[in-house]
Amino acid sequence: MPTTQPYSLLIRNAAQVLTLAGPPADKPLAGAAMAEWRIINLGYVACHSSTIAAVGAMHELDEALIGPETRIIDATGRVVMPGLVECHTHLVFGGNRADEFQRKLQGESYLDILASGGGILSTVRKTRTASDAELLAQALQHLDGFRRYGVTTLEAKTGYGLDKETELRLLRVARQASRQQPVRIVNTFLGAHVPGPEYKGRPADYLDYLVAEVLPEVRGAAEFVDVFCEEGAFGVEDSRCYLQHARDLGFKLKIHAEQLHDLGGCLMAAELGAISVDHCDYLTPEGAAQVAAAGQGRTVAVLLPLVPMFLRQDKYAPGRQFIDAGLSVAISTDFNPGSCPSKNLWLALQVACLKMGLTPREALTAVTINAAWAIDRQQDCGTLEPGKRADVLLLRVPDYRELPYWLGENPVAQVVIGGKVA
Ligand code: NIG
Ligand code: FE
Repeated sequence: MPTTQPYSLLIRNAAQVLTLAGPPADKPLAGAAMAEWRIINLGYVACHSSTIAAVGAMHELDEALIGPETRIIDATGRVVMPGLVECHTHLVFGGNRADEFQRKLQGESYLDILASGGGILSTVRKTRTASDAELLAQALQHLDGFRRYGVTTLEAKTGYGLDKETELRLLRVARQASRQQPVRIVNTFLGAHVPGPEYKGRPADYLDYLVAEVLPEVRGAAEFVDVFCEEGAFGVEDSRCYLQHARDLGFKLKIHAEQLHDLGGCLMAAELGAISVDHCDYLTPEGAAQVAAAGQGRTVAVLLPLVPMFLRQDKYAPGRQFIDAGLSVAISTDFNPGSCPSKNLWLALQVACLKMGLTPREALTAVTINAAWAIDRQQDCGTLEPGKRADVLLLRVPDYRELPYWLGENPVAQVVIGGKVA
């Protein structure tokens, strides 16, 4: 791009530009680096079509690059930051589980409801009987909600089909949804969510079926393979064997682990080179140090603070201790019909500060650049740096320290995705 070409978009006079960029990093941010990115007071962000062209202080702005075609947005009194990266959702599913919420309030646990044929399996029944059009309409509605919260890139898992036909259908619906609105979607295959109803009590047989008949057809349609390693789902050894097969087929790996018990799934997945280990509420600080070492600093722990809150559990991942132990941390909602029906990633960030001990700066890293690393999109998004896609938020506050403070509010005033105001 010739530097003489006028900017297509200029966001100027921002009270603070949170670049989320520090010294060049070839790994997700860990330890003290999670809080060391640069803030520019009274700054600007300039774009050439879909790409960030320059970021700096207003006194550095090259006025010669403002032309008649430059769209100018005044960000006086606003924080400007990269679009949020939502790195763990179960986007496509039929119906909802408001009925089970009532049971939960009366004291039934998540695993009790699952064991009685409810939980994930009740959403599987609703998903299998929903039409493509119904699934698509619901997914688009949820994506619209995410975008309003400032999410510009989102990971979407399957996992409510649990048979070949429906799982492939969920990937197709996610692909259609991605074409019909601006939020970028990264696809994960979570066919190994729980054993399909046809394989009740035979988890290993179900995984064999996935490896033999489904995974080969998922290639090209999903980038990641994920497994729910937990009592009532899949054990550590079955999960290891399954993830090894997935890796051999060229998939990148993720795991749901240590959500309700400390089974060792996170360490197993990190040893296999998993990009992320998700939930981690029962992972100990010693376990976190082992995960960081086994993953050579590349495995991100994706913390989901709204899940224990919604499941009425007291145990939250000790995020503070994870960071102190050198494990990289990201934050996500885990949006799904059972354990977190919320799309409010700001609320997740706030609860991560309140219940997991993250500082505001660390929490912002966890919903941007580290979340981008957790879905292997660190080249495209997660920071405001020249060359990255122009995904930019304008927020209704002048100081980033207000972001974890206004509990439950949506601070987003404007969302720019790929250089276009969404
Ligand atoms: O990430 N833990 C397993 N899977 C989802 C919940 C799915 C559901 O309850 O529908 C989760 O929390
Ligand atoms: Fe999940």
